[in-house]
Amino acid sequence: MRQRVWRNRSATLLIVAALWVLLVPAGAVASESQPAASSSAAAPIVGGEPAEVADHPWVVYLVDTAGKQFCGGTIAAPDKVVTAGHCVADQRPDGIRVVAGRTDKNTQAGTVAGVSDIWVHPEYTDPYRGADVAVLTLRDSLSRASLPLASAEDDALYRPGTRATVLGWGATSEGGGPSDILRKATVPVIADSECRATYGSNFVAGAMVCAGYAEGGVDGCQGDSGGPLVAGDKLIGVVSWGIGCARPGKPGVYTEVASYADQIRAQLS
Ligand code: ARG
Repeated sequence: MRQRVWRNRSATLLIVAALWVLLVPAGAVASESQPAASSSAAAPIVGGEPAEVADHPWVVYLVDTAGKQFCGGTIAAPDKVVTAGHCVADQRPDGIRVVAGRTDKNTQAGTVAGVSDIWVHPEYTDPYRGADVAVLTLRDSLSRASLPLASAEDDALYRPGTRATVLGWGATSEGGGPSDILRKATVPVIADSECRATYGSNFVAGAMVCAGYAEGGVDGCQGDSGGPLVAGDKLIGVVSWGIGCARPGKPGVYTEVASYADQIRAQLS
């Protein structure tokens, strides 16, 4: 009897802890409670390979005032960065800096830009309800290429099987530490019906798109949030959430950029 109660309680704790780890960006954990659990530095993105910002000049990462990387982002205009709503929703502009042109966090390469304004999609509440997108306005323009947004006419890029690329400096394994260097991985877009079957009502078709292999092994992970999912040289998704990282049958979930393209674009001028 006693044992049973205890077991249930530890199961509950485990689930709560797991959900926390899955959803909360590394930076948010660090600022809201203790420093994020043991980070035994590896490289970001599960199952991917090292990449260079020179080949993907629009990919950036976000750091807090302590210089700690907590999310990714994409340059969509010289002074605008698209990221996830959950990365910046309760932050102030002066608490965030954008690092562009730096493949390796341990170097001083590239540019660090201050943020003057944060726009979070007005319908954003939590990643499970969609609209997990935000636009940062930078204090100074970056002289780096922007990545075009996918829009309504880019249906083909969301077709199941489309090979897309996810990039970031996040964890290279579930529960692992963030990567020092940029990494990328190729993941196929998955049908909404399949993702719905996996995630139930937490998956909102139209607001989200899923990508990954049925057998798992390749995925974004903690710290990759806000970063780009790219296909056809366009931003088709923003890293949003998943259950664990790279688990079989648990694809990564991305904000469906084409669905929000008009609203995002209105923020880019
Ligand atoms: N929410 C995580 C973050 O803030 C990203 C989760 C992506 N997970 C995944 N399995 N694709 O960094």
